[in-house]
Amino acid sequence: MEHLISLKYLSAEEIRDLVDSAFRLKQDPGGYGKFLTGKTVGLLFEKPSLRTKTAFCVGTHQLGARPVYFGPEEIKLGEREQVRDVAKTVGKFVQAVVLRTYAHQTVLEFAKHAGIPVINGLSDRFHPSQALADLMTIQEAKGSLEKLKVAYLGDGNNVCHSLMYAIALLGGHLAIATPKEFLPQREILEETRNFFRLSGGKLEIGGEPGIIVRDADVVYTDVWISMGKERERKKRLKAFRGFQVNSGLMRRAKQDSIVMHCLPAHRGEEISDDVIDGTHSVVFTQAENRLYAAKAIMVKLLGGLQ
Ligand code: CP
Ligand code: NVA
Repeated sequence: MEHLISLKYLSAEEIRDLVDSAFRLKQDPGGYGKFLTGKTVGLLFEKPSLRTKTAFCVGTHQLGARPVYFGPEEIKLGEREQVRDVAKTVGKFVQAVVLRTYAHQTVLEFAKHAGIPVINGLSDRFHPSQALADLMTIQEAKGSLEKLKVAYLGDGNNVCHSLMYAIALLGGHLAIATPKEFLPQREILEETRNFFRLSGGKLEIGGEPGIIVRDADVVYTDVWISMGKERERKKRLKAFRGFQVNSGLMRRAKQDSIVMHCLPAHRGEEISDDVIDGTHSVVFTQAENRLYAAKAIMVKLLGGLQ
C-alpha cells in the first residue's frame, strides 16, 4: 500500500488490518509510540474541514510528528501553480500528505508526482479515510459487518462511493436509496457490483427510502448539498425530499439499529434533530473514530504495519 486514494485499490485483508490497527490505537492511544518522530505530514485542503483536519493533525502529534496545514486560500492547486509542481515541491519537505480536493483527478495527479504517500482526505469521488472509520464504528457497535444490512440514504457521491467499496470488499449487505439524478457513478456501480459478487456480499439500489431501511442494522446518511454544490441548493432540496432520516423512517429499521452520518450534518435536511441526538445515533463516536483510523493509515503508509 503506497497511497490511500480509494479503497478500491486495497484488498479485504488490508482493510481488515487497518480497521484492527485503528481499534488497537483506540484501546491503547500510546500504541506505536512516537513512531513518526522527526517526520512532518502535510495537509493541503481546497475545502473546509473539521474532522479530517483534526484527526490527521492530532494523530500526527500523537505519533510524534508535526503537521503542516495549508487551507483553501494558500496553495491554489492548479491555479497559482500546476498540481505536479506543487506535488514535486511538497514531496521534498514532508514525508506524507493528506489532500482534500474538488477534482479526484487532482489527487491522482498529485500522487503521480509527489514521491511520498498521498492520503485522499476527500475528493469529489471518494472519502476512504472516512469509510475506514465507518467500518470501525459499525464493528464497534455491532460486533462485525457480517450478516448486517447497511442502508444508505442520500447523495450517491464521495462518501457513498467509499462505503460501497468498503462493504463490497468485505462481503456485507448494502442497500442504497438516492433520487435517480443522484445515483452513484455508473462505473463505480459496475465495479462494486463485481466486487459484491466476488465477496458474496449483496448490493440493492434504487428503492424507496422506507423500503431500503426495512430491517436495516445501520442507517447512514450524508449531506444533500456537498461542498461545492451550494448553487444547486434549491434543486437538491426538492430532489431529496422524502429522503430524510427521521424517527418515522427509523421505525422501519431494526429496533437496535444504529444511525451514522459522516458529518457535517445539515440538521432538519438529511437528518432530524431527534435522530442525530437520539439513542440510535453513533454519529459522534463515528467522528471520534476518524482519529484512530487516521493514525492507522499514517502508521501503515509510513512503514509501521507490515
Ligand atoms: N466527515 C468529514 O470529512 O468531516 P470534515 O469535512 O469536517 O473533515
Ligand atoms: N459529501 C460531503 C462529505 C463531507 C465530509 C461533501 O462532499 O461535502
